[in-house]
Amino acid sequence: MIPHPTLNIAIKAARRAAQLINRAALQIERLTIESKAHNDFVTEVDRAAEAVIIETIREVFPDDRILAEESGADGGADQVQEWIIDPLDGTTNFIHGLPQFAVSIAVRRNRQLEHAVVFDPSRNELFCATRGSGAYLNERRIRVSRRDRLSDALIGTGFPFRQFQAIDAYLAIFKALTQKTAGIRRPGAASLDLCYVACGRYDGFWEFGLSPWDIAAGALIIQEAGGFVSDWNGEPHFLENGSVVAGNPKVYAALLAEIQAHQGAIEPRR
Ligand code: IPD
Ligand code: CA
Ligand code: CA
Repeated sequence: MIPHPTLNIAIKAARRAAQLINRAALQIERLTIESKAHNDFVTEVDRAAEAVIIETIREVFPDDRILAEESGADGGADQVQEWIIDPLDGTTNFIHGLPQFAVSIAVRRNRQLEHAVVFDPSRNELFCATRGSGAYLNERRIRVSRRDRLSDALIGTGFPFRQFQAIDAYLAIFKALTQKTAGIRRPGAASLDLCYVACGRYDGFWEFGLSPWDIAAGALIIQEAGGFVSDWNGEPHFLENGSVVAGNPKVYAALLAEIQAHQGAIEPRR
């Protein structure tokens, strides 16, 4: 695969950030950890990784719009090209030395996802995609799984852990899916969860209350791997309302139907 030049910049930025994260992972006991809100942590590593990503992008694209988790939005809203960045997805895992976290970078042009990279530095797994060119894990082309029955499906999710107004509705969905699927997993980094759908490790995924930087890159990687991704209404507004349902085409449809049966009681975070 010869990556598109813009994807190449995203990959370079993700690798630079990952180097810094890997170094810091060797000394996690020295980290300064701040709490942004209940169960919402940030370390100097999140900030330094974000700074190196933005610096790498700005060397080539000084005027693009950037939306990054720790520093917010920068650049004109009228810019054609926008970068959506989570410098360290899975910070809670990182703080605990649990090797399930990633750097996630997506590029939109005219509000359409065009390029995506999610890099897991612990496993040296680089997931990437460009619209129309397929999805890759390292050098290998990836596809969603072919399992077509919910009863055989392994499903990823994210539990509510910061805000609990929708916990009962979430647990009702969880209860139903625990009984109707082959199993449910909650590793703790949404960007990687989405990539696991793309490469067939999971057959589906759902989570509510996410932010655009958790979802943007993984969503394009799923689409380019032949999977479906939507919000809980089956609409493509997952970046706006933070709810995500994804899967191979068959499992996606079954998952969406289950979620919609309980959806009335849940309000989006934003
Ligand atoms: C979090 C992770 C987690 C998901 C949370 C996200 P962060 O991102 O993706 O899996 O359940 O909702 O906020 O805060 O570690 O970048
Ligand atoms: Ca995140
Ligand atoms: Ca983060």
